[in-house]
Amino acid sequence: MLNTVTSAHDLAALIEWYGAMGADCALDDLPQDRFEESQRQARERASARTARAAASDNRANASPSQPVGSTLTSKSSSNQSRPSLNAPQHGQQEGQAPAFLNPGSASVVEDARQMAAQAQTLADLRQALATFEGCSLKLSAKSLVFGDGNPDGEVMFIGEAPGRDEDLQGIPFVGRAGQLLDKMMTAIKLDRSNSYITNILPWRPPGNRKPSIDEQAMLQPFIHRHIELVNPKLLVFLGGTAAQQLLDSKEGIMRLRGRWRTYTVSGREIPAMSTLHPAFLLRTPAQKRAAWQDLLEVAAKLDSLR
Ligand code: URA
Repeated sequence: MLNTVTSAHDLAALIEWYGAMGADCALDDLPQDRFEESQRQARERASARTARAAASDNRANASPSQPVGSTLTSKSSSNQSRPSLNAPQHGQQEGQAPAFLNPGSASVVEDARQMAAQAQTLADLRQALATFEGCSLKLSAKSLVFGDGNPDGEVMFIGEAPGRDEDLQGIPFVGRAGQLLDKMMTAIKLDRSNSYITNILPWRPPGNRKPSIDEQAMLQPFIHRHIELVNPKLLVFLGGTAAQQLLDSKEGIMRLRGRWRTYTVSGREIPAMSTLHPAFLLRTPAQKRAAWQDLLEVAAKLDSLR
């Protein structure tokens, strides 16, 4: 593993990487107005609260024969007494996902598995997601953010979930984190014409909260089939949520990153590298060096597979 810069070639590549990331990368890519940032987050939390209250009013007013939008709760025998998965649970901080598996989730996961397995093409899979009623995130999201780039690409990058910009445009990684991801890819001669980008979740969680265990579990069959259909040479998991979900691990990203693991689809073991999420790198630029080491690993592995 390349832990340090050991050759002139690595040094040249490192300088190129810093160039691609912007000369101020030791500080940050853009000046940040922290006051505006916290005000924006407060506004987002307030509007997520309003949306949750409206959704819960709608559910309370829905007649029993009316679809509730989420089979997650409609399939649960205890659904009348269960709070919405998007509403804060007892002891849960707002913005944090509830960490329990709803008893109704198992049948939703089974539905997801069947729908995903039937998809023979990416277009089928997108359509299957569009018709999947198991996940209430669909209700608050504006777009289904499926994937971007070249489905015949050698590398498939997988992040967590769309953010605000992605939800508005319907394309993964187009906001600030996405712009950094593009720079990271360029530094190892990858881009959206030779790689494919998606997320473990196709819908934006309200207020950009972390997806719950239930949401990740019910959408897992779709991302699994997505990987199977793209069938890339290499996988890159961006951030802890994607890495933990796809590697079925509880280890933190700082332990998972930089190590090759495999992800198995149709009996084929695809080499998978976990690295730091570009949004994290924007907040913690000192960690860009670690991400660079991971990317060098990806570039080297790709060379060895060509
Ligand atoms: N963060 C992600 O994980 N995915 C996106 O598409 C955008 C931001």
